[in-house]
Amino acid sequence: PWNDAVAATIIAQHKAQEGATLPIFHALQKAFGYVPAEAVPMIAEALNLSRAEVHGVLTFYHDFRSEPPGCHILKLCRAEACQAAGGDHLATGVERQLGIKLGETTPDQQVTLEPVFCLGLCAVAPSAMLDDQPIGRVDAARLDALLNEVRS
Ligand code: FES
Repeated sequence: PWNDAVAATIIAQHKAQEGATLPIFHALQKAFGYVPAEAVPMIAEALNLSRAEVHGVLTFYHDFRSEPPGCHILKLCRAEACQAAGGDHLATGVERQLGIKLGETTPDQQVTLEPVFCLGLCAVAPSAMLDDQPIGRVDAARLDALLNEVRS
């Protein structure tokens, strides 16, 4: 869970770095799984930036979550090569199967579904990543099987 004191230590460790905002966001997300709104004033103060500036950076990048993720994170590639290989159809199918949209977490907090923009697996598109495990030539049935495996 989020912890102000730990967050403050992480911010202090990175604040001297040039362009510290992004490294801080990455470090916070690594530590907590997300970057809540309460991090914004803490970072703004440490870096002498306005809250609006910090908030702007946070929302500009798709990489950062504002809510705690589920136990498992499924990323679907939404970039060009994967779209051309049926990625849209796949995404719609997975959304229906899980009952959530991209960017959301299932109500049982088991799975967070996220878009990602190229996993470097274009040759085996469409691709996905389940808990850091890359999956090429993915289809709805295979994803369903993998999700059942991790959820059980
Ligand atoms: Fe999907 Fe590159 S476009 S892996």
